[in-house]
Amino acid sequence: MMRLDKFLADAGVGTRSEIKKLVRGGKIVVNNETARKPEQKVEPQTDRIFAEGKEISYEKFIYYLFHKPAGCVTAKQDKKDKTVMDFFPEDLKKKLAPVGRLDKDTEGLLLLTNDGSLTHRLLSPAYHVEKTYFAKLDTAVPEKAAELFSQGVDIGDEKLTLPAKLCILSENEAELTISEGRFHQVKRMFHAVGCNVIYLKRLSMGNLKLGDLKKGEYRKLTAEELLVLQESAEHKGEE
Ligand code: URA
Repeated sequence: MMRLDKFLADAGVGTRSEIKKLVRGGKIVVNNETARKPEQKVEPQTDRIFAEGKEISYEKFIYYLFHKPAGCVTAKQDKKDKTVMDFFPEDLKKKLAPVGRLDKDTEGLLLLTNDGSLTHRLLSPAYHVEKTYFAKLDTAVPEKAAELFSQGVDIGDEKLTLPAKLCILSENEAELTISEGRFHQVKRMFHAVGCNVIYLKRLSMGNLKLGDLKKGEYRKLTAEELLVLQESAEHKGEE
């Protein structure tokens, strides 16, 4: 059970004082009865709640796609740096947490959710979600890099990297698709073939694509995106 005004505020209906006005004006209906008090208790999962005739549904889990700009860290909070959470309003900031991490100087697609179970599955080594990065390098990418990456390279860890797909776009630009998420993985892989990454952007993660989302902007996943993501997480987790 929770307070009606909190439920409505969390659902984005308005501020607490706006909600108070709606209640006083008889604009909020709970199970066919006009609500009388903003502090009355409701059961979000089962009560049917309407604000000005529109049904307000309870979303236990929320999923957002964010275009991370360079210069902010992927963390809930940080003592000195701006974080990815600073781009979200307070109510979302409280709920969301990033799935995985992009370096401070890396841009691109970042998924945020409060669905801990999905986060866990997406980050588990058993679930090899493909992530594609666009990279600019300080020197020409050696031709042999594609073959080396497809076989796995030694980046100083116990194990070689899993097979990855390299697509060379121009002398100094390439797209790399990996299915792991090791620390600084893309930078270390290019380093292993003699190049330094000078710009890095994540373009996709599984079925999720950055598309034309602008830097610093976010949007909710569509129902379709969420379904495909959840389904693939189920299957991979069972392997
Ligand atoms: N690999 C990196 O080196 N950095 C990132 O931010 C993501 C993948």
